[in-house]
Amino acid sequence: MYEALALLELSVWLGLPAWIANATPVIFGGGRPIDGGRVMRDGHRILGDGKTIRGFFVGVLFGTLTGLGQYFLAPYLMPILAEFVTVTPSMEYVLFMTISAGFLLSVGALAGDLIGSFLKRRANVQSGGPSPILDQLGFIIMALLLAYPLLKPEGIYAVVLIITTLVVHWVSNAIGYLLGIKKNPW
Ligand code: CTP
Ligand code: MG
Repeated sequence: MYEALALLELSVWLGLPAWIANATPVIFGGGRPIDGGRVMRDGHRILGDGKTIRGFFVGVLFGTLTGLGQYFLAPYLMPILAEFVTVTPSMEYVLFMTISAGFLLSVGALAGDLIGSFLKRRANVQSGGPSPILDQLGFIIMALLLAYPLLKPEGIYAVVLIITTLVVHWVSNAIGYLLGIKKNPW
C-alpha cells in the first residue's frame, strides 16, 4: 500500500517539470509562431500558430524553475518518504532531481509538443484540432526520453507517470467542461 503511494508520488515528482512546461504556454504563450507562418509543400503550416516562440521559452523557464524548486524541497520530502517505505538509491535519484534534469524534462516536453504539432499538420489536422495520444502523451514521452540519461528512472515510474498524465488530462478536461470553459468533456 505505502509502496504504491511512494511509487505514485515519485512518478508525479518526475513528471512535474514536464507538466508545468506543457501547461504554462497555454497561459503565457502567444505572439510570433516558431515556424514564422511558413507552409510546407503539402500546403499546411510547418507547425501552426499554436506553437509560439514565447510559449516555448515560457515553458522551458517555468519547467526548469519547477525542477529547481523540487531540488530544494527534496531534503524535506525524503524523511517523510523514509517513514513509510525503504528509500532505494533509484528513488533517491528521482527525488533529488537537479536543475539540469528539470531543464531536460522541460525541453523534452516542449520538443514532444512541437513534434506532435508537426505530425498533426502533416495529417491535415488544424491547429487546436484533437489528436488523441499525441496531444496527451507526446510531451511526456519525449520528456522522459530526454531526461533518461540523467535520471535513469526505473521503467515502472515511466509507466505510472504516463497513466497519471492521461488521468490528469481527462479530469482537467472534465472540470473545464463542467465550468463551461471547454465545449466538450474530452
Ligand atoms: N502555446 C504557445 N507556444 C507553444 C505551445 C503552446 O504559445 N510552444 C499556446 C498557444 O496559445 C496554443 C495553446 O498554448 O494555442 C495550447 O497549446 P496546444 O494545445 O499545444 O496547441 P494547439 O493550439 O492545440 O495547436 P496544435 O494543434 O498544434 O497542438
Ligand atoms: Mg491542443
